[in-house]
Amino acid sequence: MYFIKYLPAGLAHSLAPLGLKIYSDFCGVEETPQWRPFTWRGLHFQNRLGIAGGVDKDGDHLQQWMQLGCGFAEIGTVTPKPQKPNPGMIVARDWDNSNLWNKLGFPSSGAKEVSINLMHANPSIPILVNIGKNRNTSNALAAQDYVECVELLKDNADIFVINVSSPNSKGLRDLQNKEYLTGLTSAVVNKSAQIPVLLKLSPDLNNHQLHESIEAGMVGGASGFILTNTTTHRPETCQFPLEGGLAGKDLAQKSITFLKETLRILGNSRKDLLLVSVGGVLSERDVHERLDLGADLVEVYSALVFKGPGFFQEVADSFSRGLQ
Ligand SMILES: Cc1cc2nc3c(=O)[nH]c(=O)nc-3n(C[C@H](O)[C@H](O)[C@H](O)COP(=O)(O)O)c2cc1C
Repeated sequence: MYFIKYLPAGLAHSLAPLGLKIYSDFCGVEETPQWRPFTWRGLHFQNRLGIAGGVDKDGDHLQQWMQLGCGFAEIGTVTPKPQKPNPGMIVARDWDNSNLWNKLGFPSSGAKEVSINLMHANPSIPILVNIGKNRNTSNALAAQDYVECVELLKDNADIFVINVSSPNSKGLRDLQNKEYLTGLTSAVVNKSAQIPVLLKLSPDLNNHQLHESIEAGMVGGASGFILTNTTTHRPETCQFPLEGGLAGKDLAQKSITFLKETLRILGNSRKDLLLVSVGGVLSERDVHERLDLGADLVEVYSALVFKGPGFFQEVADSFSRGLQ
């Protein structure tokens, strides 16, 4: 798979589904590896590691995620209507520092099409469906877009994720403000009925904002949080453009800090709220660390690029070897 490193990022991105299919057909597992199994609100997770939002935006590779050993999969971000990616360069990789950059901006086949994909896949692992608004929908009307996604996808989602944290859709992150967030969350929670709703937050919130977003989400009825999306901050030596979001190794510390801070903010009121850690998880040890810190589930995107699709199996093996 390492020839991928020598291809331009855009081409590698386009060829990834084919590579994934070939790898999972030849090297995949028949049964989901079981380690640290977990049941939450009636959903059974054979293990705690899955793909992050953005890896499979339209839910058309579910068979492959199961073959690779994912304990669950987050699909999306799905928008109500189909839309194309942002123009120009939209992905880049820094192999030396294991960092990934993107400004994709929610390319989506649209909620109707994605619901058909999910229905045909009939997955045996829990499915999180990450939802967003269309590019041309104003923040004032955003809740309608999220609610429309829920209406179209609710028969095929085990958990909904409200994405208000991508840096690539203009103004989206403002929806994390408490003025919007309680209303948006409760509109989605009311429409999704029994299906739990999580909020995915940005690592660029300050402590006060994180506190307010968590409180606003809980008042709106959120059942948990995903920490974190990509960052607009850049390390000093970073060559990536200033627009767009950075993922990978240089996001790890922020993601860990947000997990710890969220646990501190929730304290005894955490109860059965689900906490999902994502950002800079690039080794078996990183997965162990996030779970030991208190995450219920862990997700990866960059690890798929820098470590390859065998990552899920390597993590499963590390748990069976009892890696500490
Ligand atoms: C190319 C790319 C596309 C992404 N698309 C989405 C998306 O559509 N929705 C979303 O919530 N997060 C998206 N993300 C963010 C990831 O879900 C994740 O939060 C971030 O990459 C940090 O994890 P990592 O360090 O393991 O890559 C995307 C990330 C990348 C690199």
